[in-house]
Amino acid sequence: MRILVTGGTGFIGSHTVVELAEAGHEPVLLDNLSNSDEKVVGRLTQITGKEFPFYRADIRDREALESIFSKEDIDCVIHFAGLKAVGESVRLPWEYYENNINGSLVLTDVMRKHGVKNIIFSSSATVYGTPAFVPITEECPKGQCTNPYGWTKSMLEQILTDMQRADEEWNVILLRYFNPIGAHESGLIGENPNGIPNNLMPYITQVAVGKLDHLTVYGDDYDTEDGTGVRDYIHVKDLAKGHVAALSQISAKCGTKVYNLGTGTGYSVLQVIKAFEEASGKKIPYEIGARREGDIAECYADPAKAARELGWKAEYGIHRMCEDSWRWQSMNPDGYR
Ligand code: NAD
Ligand code: WQD
Repeated sequence: MRILVTGGTGFIGSHTVVELAEAGHEPVLLDNLSNSDEKVVGRLTQITGKEFPFYRADIRDREALESIFSKEDIDCVIHFAGLKAVGESVRLPWEYYENNINGSLVLTDVMRKHGVKNIIFSSSATVYGTPAFVPITEECPKGQCTNPYGWTKSMLEQILTDMQRADEEWNVILLRYFNPIGAHESGLIGENPNGIPNNLMPYITQVAVGKLDHLTVYGDDYDTEDGTGVRDYIHVKDLAKGHVAALSQISAKCGTKVYNLGTGTGYSVLQVIKAFEEASGKKIPYEIGARREGDIAECYADPAKAARELGWKAEYGIHRMCEDSWRWQSMNPDGYR
């Protein structure tokens, strides 16, 4: 299939381009580079030996999208483009709703005008809010999000579901990611946060490479095994393969489908630190701090539905995730700069 990958130079988008190309699909990349670097395109060619069309464009730019859809014979869109920093979304709610929701409305409008009614959307486990139960199945009710970013995901799921209900030609796949980490084994592409990282793994790797001096563990008084927060970390390569697997549902005219993409295993912050130290041989100094507002005690998936219906299962464990995150960071201490 010829697939438009919005957010194609971003962290998950770039890894998905590799897996799509390796599975024989033809990815076409679109990104406004607000949180990524054009160098990614060359790195993707280095990894795969293939050239990819890249459009520097904004999903809110109707004219640009019109021209891309007129020129490229797109079968399906994998829609990663969006702003994703939780804390920033609390400070800049309008910007988040405008970029993520308005952008997706413009994109899907241009898609339908061009008869492209297949979309795989990057959703998040954040839509479960404080989950009613763990492990989280897709039947777990959606919850109250704690920030505007999370609401954009929750609302976009509803918008896409309603569009599909009104027009059965649409096929909509909502993929709820848990906590993606790791990087391609080449060390050529990886997560490249702007400024001080918000997320655990990029923070740890920047401590390991000497850019930050220690990690603060946000709370050790949760009701978990060691008191620190538990999450379902998933290797970004496994996550990327989940998108390739989801394409089979698009071909089968699936209507609307929702899948959790996680491993099913939770690790605490202290367990991640230990795994990283073992994988990298680096000591990670840390101190215990206060809880971070909006955090929950534990969040991990029941990934059985994706295994059953997509034939997809995460393969990589925490050790490999840490190894690959570290290879990326140590080979690119300043990201793509
Ligand atoms: P990322 O920031 O690395 O990638 C997103 C890309 O979208 C960036 O390259 C950015 O430049 C681009 N972009 C943003 N707004 C755009 C616009 N208006 N037009 C065109 N391009 C635009 O983030 P990521 O981690 O790769 O996440 C990809 C998607 O997955 C996002 O939608 C994110 O919300 C979602 N998601 C991420 C995580 C995670 O922990 N990384 C978890 C769940 C869901
Ligand atoms: C993981 C654990 C922290 C940083 C976020 C978004 C979510 C999704 C994935 C997009 C928690 C602890 C972290 C630090 C710490 N993104 N931590 N010190 O919060 O599970 O999920 O990214 O959809 O929507 O909310 O991920 O990596 O920030 O935190 O102790 O410096 O690490 O408290 O227990 P989170 P995270």
